[in-house]
Amino acid sequence: MRAEIFSQPVLDNCQYMSAFVKSTVREMGSARAPFTCDAWNSLEVLAKISEVAGIELIPAMDYEIAAINISVNDQTVPIFNASHSKEEEFPAFAWHRDSYYPFVCVTMLSDCVGMTGGETALKTASGEIMKVRGPAMGTAVVMQGRYIEHQALKAYGGHERISMVTSFRAKSPHVRDESALTDVRPISNLSELYTQYTRYRLELLEERVRDCLKKEYYRESAKRPFDIPTMRKFLVEQKEFIESMIEELIK
Ligand SMILES: [Fe+2]
Repeated sequence: MRAEIFSQPVLDNCQYMSAFVKSTVREMGSARAPFTCDAWNSLEVLAKISEVAGIELIPAMDYEIAAINISVNDQTVPIFNASHSKEEEFPAFAWHRDSYYPFVCVTMLSDCVGMTGGETALKTASGEIMKVRGPAMGTAVVMQGRYIEHQALKAYGGHERISMVTSFRAKSPHVRDESALTDVRPISNLSELYTQYTRYRLELLEERVRDCLKKEYYRESAKRPFDIPTMRKFLVEQKEFIESMIEELIK
Protein backbone atom coordinates (compact mmCIF):
# COMPACT_ATOMS: atom_id res chain seq x y z
CA MET A 1 0.00 0.00 0.00
CA ARG A 2 2.81 2.39 0.87
CA ALA A 3 4.61 1.59 -2.36
CA GLU A 4 1.48 2.48 -4.32
CA ILE A 5 0.89 5.70 -2.36
CA PHE A 6 4.45 6.87 -3.01
CA SER A 7 4.53 5.75 -6.64
CA GLN A 8 5.14 8.42 -9.26
CA PRO A 9 1.69 8.28 -10.95
CA VAL A 10 0.03 8.75 -7.55
CA LEU A 11 2.39 11.57 -6.53
CA ASP A 12 1.68 13.27 -9.85
CA ASN A 13 -2.09 12.92 -9.95
CA CYS A 14 -3.72 12.19 -6.63
CA GLN A 15 -3.04 15.01 -4.15
CA TYR A 16 -5.92 17.12 -2.92
CA MET A 17 -6.14 19.95 -0.40
CA SER A 18 -8.94 21.92 1.22
CA ALA A 19 -9.37 24.31 4.13
CA PHE A 20 -10.28 21.36 6.31
CA VAL A 21 -7.85 18.80 4.98
CA LYS A 22 -4.31 20.03 4.45
CA SER A 23 -3.20 17.20 2.26
CA THR A 24 -4.81 14.00 1.24
CA VAL A 25 -4.15 11.45 -1.44
CA ARG A 26 -7.33 10.35 -3.18
CA GLU A 27 -8.58 8.72 -6.33
CA MET A 28 -5.60 6.43 -6.80
CA GLY A 29 -7.83 4.03 -8.71
CA SER A 30 -7.22 0.40 -9.59
CA ALA A 31 -4.77 1.21 -12.41
CA ARG A 32 -2.45 3.19 -10.11
CA ALA A 33 -3.14 1.20 -6.95
CA PRO A 34 -4.15 -2.35 -7.88
CA PHE A 35 -3.10 -3.93 -4.58
CA THR A 36 -4.92 -1.36 -2.45
CA CYS A 37 -8.11 -1.61 -4.52
CA ASP A 38 -8.04 -5.42 -4.57
CA ALA A 39 -7.51 -5.50 -0.81
CA TRP A 40 -10.53 -3.34 -0.04
CA ASN A 41 -12.72 -5.31 -2.42
CA SER A 42 -11.52 -8.68 -1.11
CA LEU A 43 -14.35 -10.80 0.27
CA GLU A 44 -12.27 -11.84 3.29
CA VAL A 45 -11.51 -8.23 4.21
CA LEU A 46 -15.13 -7.18 3.72
CA ALA A 47 -16.32 -10.09 5.85
CA LYS A 48 -14.02 -9.04 8.70
CA ILE A 49 -15.04 -5.39 8.54
CA SER A 50 -18.70 -6.34 8.34
CA GLU A 51 -18.26 -8.54 11.38
CA VAL A 52 -16.81 -5.65 13.37
CA ALA A 53 -19.53 -3.27 12.17
CA GLY A 54 -22.33 -5.75 12.81
CA ILE A 55 -23.82 -5.14 9.37
CA GLU A 56 -22.77 -6.25 5.90
CA LEU A 57 -20.68 -3.48 4.36
CA ILE A 58 -19.17 -2.72 0.97
CA PRO A 59 -16.91 0.18 -0.08
CA ALA A 60 -19.05 3.32 -0.37
CA MET A 61 -17.80 3.77 -3.93
CA ASP A 62 -14.58 3.12 -5.85
CA TYR A 63 -13.71 6.77 -5.36
CA GLU A 64 -13.39 6.22 -1.61
CA ILE A 65 -10.70 3.52 -1.92
CA ALA A 66 -9.04 5.29 -0.30
CA ALA A 67 -8.13 8.65 1.25
CA ILE A 68 -4.65 8.78 2.72
CA ASN A 69 -3.63 11.37 5.28
CA ILE A 70 0.06 11.98 5.67
CA SER A 71 1.68 13.91 8.46
CA VAL A 72 5.35 14.31 9.13
CA ASN A 73 6.69 15.56 12.47
CA ASP A 74 3.13 16.06 13.74
CA GLN A 75 2.15 18.28 10.82
CA THR A 76 -0.16 17.32 8.06
CA VAL A 77 1.63 18.31 4.93
CA PRO A 78 1.62 17.79 1.22
CA ILE A 79 3.97 14.94 0.52
CA PHE A 80 5.84 16.95 -2.08
CA ASN A 81 7.26 19.55 0.27
CA ALA A 82 7.05 17.83 3.58
CA SER A 83 10.11 19.56 4.95
CA HIS A 84 9.05 23.08 3.95
CA SER A 85 5.68 23.31 5.64
CA LYS A 86 5.13 26.67 7.33
CA GLU A 87 2.05 25.54 9.22
CA GLU A 88 2.50 26.27 12.92
CA GLU A 89 0.61 23.21 13.92
CA PHE A 90 -2.18 21.36 12.32
CA PRO A 91 -4.90 21.52 14.92
CA ALA A 92 -6.40 18.37 16.17
CA PHE A 93 -9.84 18.47 14.62
CA ALA A 94 -12.43 20.09 16.87
CA TRP A 95 -15.47 18.11 18.01
CA HIS A 96 -17.37 17.17 14.93
CA ARG A 97 -19.34 14.61 13.07
CA ASP A 98 -18.11 13.66 9.63
CA SER A 99 -20.45 14.50 6.82
CA TYR A 100 -19.76 11.71 4.47
CA TYR A 101 -20.24 7.97 4.74
CA PRO A 102 -21.88 5.77 7.37
CA PHE A 103 -18.75 3.77 8.24
CA VAL A 104 -15.04 4.35 7.85
CA CYS A 105 -12.09 2.05 8.37
CA VAL A 106 -8.87 3.81 9.37
CA THR A 107 -5.74 1.78 8.71
CA MET A 108 -2.34 2.77 10.08
CA LEU A 109 0.44 2.53 7.53
CA SER A 110 3.21 3.89 9.76
CA ASP A 111 5.25 2.47 12.57
CA CYS A 112 3.87 4.26 15.64
CA VAL A 113 6.65 3.26 18.02
CA GLY A 114 7.58 6.30 20.11
CA MET A 115 4.41 8.16 19.23
CA THR A 116 2.13 9.42 21.98
CA GLY A 117 -1.35 10.82 21.60
CA GLY A 118 -3.09 10.34 18.33
CA GLU A 119 -6.16 8.84 19.95
CA THR A 120 -9.68 9.50 18.82
CA ALA A 121 -11.97 10.92 21.49
CA LEU A 122 -15.61 9.91 21.20
CA LYS A 123 -18.64 11.37 22.95
CA THR A 124 -20.86 8.55 24.08
CA ALA A 125 -24.65 8.73 24.22
CA SER A 126 -24.50 9.63 27.93
CA GLY A 127 -22.07 12.50 27.21
CA GLU A 128 -19.04 10.75 28.60
CA ILE A 129 -15.81 11.03 26.68
CA MET A 130 -14.15 7.85 25.61
CA LYS A 131 -10.62 7.79 24.23
CA VAL A 132 -9.90 5.16 21.63
CA ARG A 133 -6.33 4.37 20.80
CA GLY A 134 -5.40 4.98 17.20
CA PRO A 135 -4.58 1.90 15.21
CA ALA A 136 -1.00 0.63 15.38
CA MET A 137 0.90 -0.24 12.21
CA GLY A 138 -0.93 -2.82 10.16
CA THR A 139 -4.13 -2.59 12.17
CA ALA A 140 -7.33 -0.69 11.58
CA VAL A 141 -10.23 0.90 13.43
CA VAL A 142 -13.81 0.83 12.16
CA MET A 143 -15.94 3.76 13.26
CA GLN A 144 -19.13 5.68 12.54
CA GLY A 145 -17.89 9.23 12.49
CA ARG A 146 -21.07 10.39 10.85
CA TYR A 147 -23.13 9.49 13.89
CA ILE A 148 -20.76 9.81 16.82
CA GLU A 149 -19.28 13.16 17.80
CA HIS A 150 -15.52 12.78 17.83
CA GLN A 151 -12.22 14.57 17.88
CA ALA A 152 -8.80 13.51 16.70
CA LEU A 153 -6.19 14.19 19.37
CA LYS A 154 -2.80 15.37 18.34
CA ALA A 155 -0.01 12.87 18.01
CA TYR A 156 3.50 13.61 19.30
CA GLY A 157 6.88 12.07 18.81
CA GLY A 158 6.17 10.04 15.74
CA HIS A 159 8.29 10.61 12.70
CA GLU A 160 5.55 10.11 10.16
CA ARG A 161 1.93 9.13 10.38
CA ILE A 162 0.25 7.76 7.30
CA SER A 163 -3.30 6.64 7.73
CA MET A 164 -5.66 5.33 5.11
CA VAL A 165 -9.37 5.99 5.38
CA THR A 166 -11.71 3.76 3.44
CA SER A 167 -15.43 4.52 3.49
CA PHE A 168 -18.21 1.98 3.58
CA ARG A 169 -21.97 1.76 3.29
CA ALA A 170 -24.46 -0.99 3.97
CA LYS A 171 -24.72 -3.53 1.19
CA SER A 172 -28.47 -3.98 1.60
CA PRO A 173 -30.56 -1.54 -0.47
CA HIS A 174 -33.10 -1.57 2.34
CA VAL A 175 -30.85 0.10 4.87
CA ARG A 176 -31.16 3.88 5.00
CA ASP A 177 -28.20 5.48 3.21
CA GLU A 178 -27.42 8.92 4.59
CA SER A 179 -24.09 9.37 2.82
CA ALA A 180 -23.35 13.04 2.24
CA LEU A 181 -20.67 14.65 0.12
CA THR A 182 -20.10 17.85 2.13
CA ASP A 183 -16.64 16.91 3.41
CA VAL A 184 -15.39 15.21 0.27
CA ARG A 185 -16.63 17.68 -2.36
CA PRO A 186 -13.72 20.15 -1.87
CA ILE A 187 -11.15 17.38 -2.28
CA SER A 188 -12.68 15.59 -5.24
CA ASN A 189 -13.00 15.68 -8.97
CA LEU A 190 -16.71 16.54 -8.97
CA SER A 191 -17.51 14.89 -12.28
CA GLU A 192 -16.09 11.56 -11.12
CA LEU A 193 -17.51 11.86 -7.60
CA TYR A 194 -21.01 12.67 -8.84
CA THR A 195 -20.88 9.92 -11.47
CA GLN A 196 -20.15 7.26 -8.86
CA TYR A 197 -22.52 8.72 -6.26
CA THR A 198 -25.41 8.96 -8.71
CA ARG A 199 -24.76 5.46 -10.02
CA TYR A 200 -24.86 3.64 -6.70
CA ARG A 201 -27.77 5.70 -5.38
CA LEU A 202 -29.83 5.00 -8.50
CA GLU A 203 -28.90 1.33 -8.25
CA LEU A 204 -30.22 1.30 -4.69
CA LEU A 205 -33.40 2.96 -5.86
CA GLU A 206 -33.70 0.48 -8.71
CA GLU A 207 -33.44 -2.45 -6.32
CA ARG A 208 -35.99 -0.93 -3.97
CA VAL A 209 -38.46 -0.34 -6.79
CA ARG A 210 -38.01 -3.90 -8.08
CA ASP A 211 -38.57 -5.24 -4.60
CA CYS A 212 -41.68 -3.11 -4.17
CA LEU A 213 -43.08 -4.36 -7.49
CA LYS A 214 -42.39 -7.95 -6.53
CA LYS A 215 -44.31 -7.49 -3.30
CA GLU A 216 -47.15 -5.86 -5.22
CA TYR A 217 -47.44 -8.79 -7.67
CA TYR A 218 -47.43 -11.17 -4.75
CA ARG A 219 -50.07 -9.17 -2.87
CA GLU A 220 -52.30 -9.06 -5.92
CA SER A 221 -52.02 -12.76 -6.60
CA ALA A 222 -52.79 -13.45 -2.96
CA LYS A 223 -55.95 -11.34 -3.44
CA ARG A 224 -55.12 -8.92 -0.65
CA PRO A 225 -56.39 -5.36 -0.97
CA PHE A 226 -54.11 -2.45 -1.82
CA ASP A 227 -52.35 -1.16 1.31
CA ILE A 228 -52.42 2.63 1.13
CA PRO A 229 -50.29 3.45 4.22
CA THR A 230 -47.55 0.98 3.25
CA MET A 231 -47.30 2.27 -0.31
CA ARG A 232 -47.37 5.88 0.84
CA LYS A 233 -44.59 5.17 3.35
CA PHE A 234 -42.46 3.56 0.65
CA LEU A 235 -43.02 6.47 -1.72
CA VAL A 236 -42.25 9.12 0.91
CA GLU A 237 -38.98 7.36 1.74
CA GLN A 238 -37.95 7.26 -1.91
CA LYS A 239 -38.98 10.89 -2.37
CA GLU A 240 -36.69 11.87 0.52
CA PHE A 241 -33.94 9.69 -0.94
CA ILE A 242 -34.19 11.51 -4.28
CA GLU A 243 -34.48 14.92 -2.61
CA SER A 244 -31.27 14.35 -0.67
CA MET A 245 -29.53 13.44 -3.95
CA ILE A 246 -30.76 16.66 -5.53
CA GLU A 247 -29.28 18.57 -2.60
CA GLU A 248 -25.92 16.82 -2.94
CA LEU A 249 -25.52 17.43 -6.66
CA ILE A 250 -24.46 21.06 -6.59
CA LYS A 251 -21.79 22.93 -8.52
FE1 LIG B 1 -13.82 12.98 11.65
